[in-house]
Amino acid sequence: MKPVILVTRKLPDAVEQRLLRDYDARLNPGDDLYSADELVKRAEGADAILPCHTEKFTAEVIARLPKSVRAIANFSVGYDHVDTKAAKEHGLIVTNTPEVLSDATAELTMMLMLGAARRASEGERLVRTREWKDWSPSFMVGTQVTGKRLGIIGFGRVGQVVAKRARGFDMEIHYNDLQRLPSEIEAGAIYHKTPEELLPHCDFLALHCVAIPETFRLLNAARIALLPDGAIVVNASRGAVIDDDALIAALKSGKLTAAGLDVYNNEPTNIHPGYRELPNVFLMPHIGSATKETRIAMGFRALDNLDAIFAGKEPLDRVA
Ligand code: DGY
Repeated sequence: MKPVILVTRKLPDAVEQRLLRDYDARLNPGDDLYSADELVKRAEGADAILPCHTEKFTAEVIARLPKSVRAIANFSVGYDHVDTKAAKEHGLIVTNTPEVLSDATAELTMMLMLGAARRASEGERLVRTREWKDWSPSFMVGTQVTGKRLGIIGFGRVGQVVAKRARGFDMEIHYNDLQRLPSEIEAGAIYHKTPEELLPHCDFLALHCVAIPETFRLLNAARIALLPDGAIVVNASRGAVIDDDALIAALKSGKLTAAGLDVYNNEPTNIHPGYRELPNVFLMPHIGSATKETRIAMGFRALDNLDAIFAGKEPLDRVA
């Protein structure tokens, strides 16, 4: 008998075809967002769950999962939506999908930098609303990206690709991570031991750290104060790493020129209302990995992990 897999969201056709070929897959063709109760109910008799970050596996939800469930094979690199400690205690294997989305997320990060620096939201709105009436040397003047200093907090897979792409804009790369990386990975990037040491060197700051208790509200008022006046902040990691009130205050006061955000605290429906009102933020709806190629690769990576688990092998991307 094929293992039963509960798939919580609509996945690319190629991924669903492979799921149907190799497993007894419970798909979600309507792409409905399951409540915790529905999730637990639908998991009845399933051997594993293939969820996205949209389903929260709190300790309480994990405790209610049927005993048949052996694994949570995430369709995401981030796994802050899963209480991994509780999962371990319940003997669940948890996997994620690293590497395959680094290029797409780095592309989106470059878009956030360019969009924030060149005032993309304002410009687009002017054209669409027919409010664009004139051209002058002082019209819609933004910040040049080329040749500036880019600071990256979290120099993992995505951060490293961002550095590569940013070098195409002749940017000088600075980074902070738990430890200094080998020089072939640094490729000239300048290491700073702490965010405090890094921040004064950032005309642009890109956050690529994971959301863990240690990075909660990492970018707060005290750290924003260390950035050069007029800096630009972008975030394509998780909303939790930013103190929204502090960022909004800095964007209002002019301490920061602009921000580009793809992820938010309390997304999607309850993000800080201050962001919607600011002209100098470029806002995207958590689409860092949203390319056709990457979404298929993420699904295949999640399936590779499931294949290993049901073959009795260690999955490549085990995080718990
Ligand atoms: C990820 O993979 O973590 C993306 O944010 C989508 O969930």
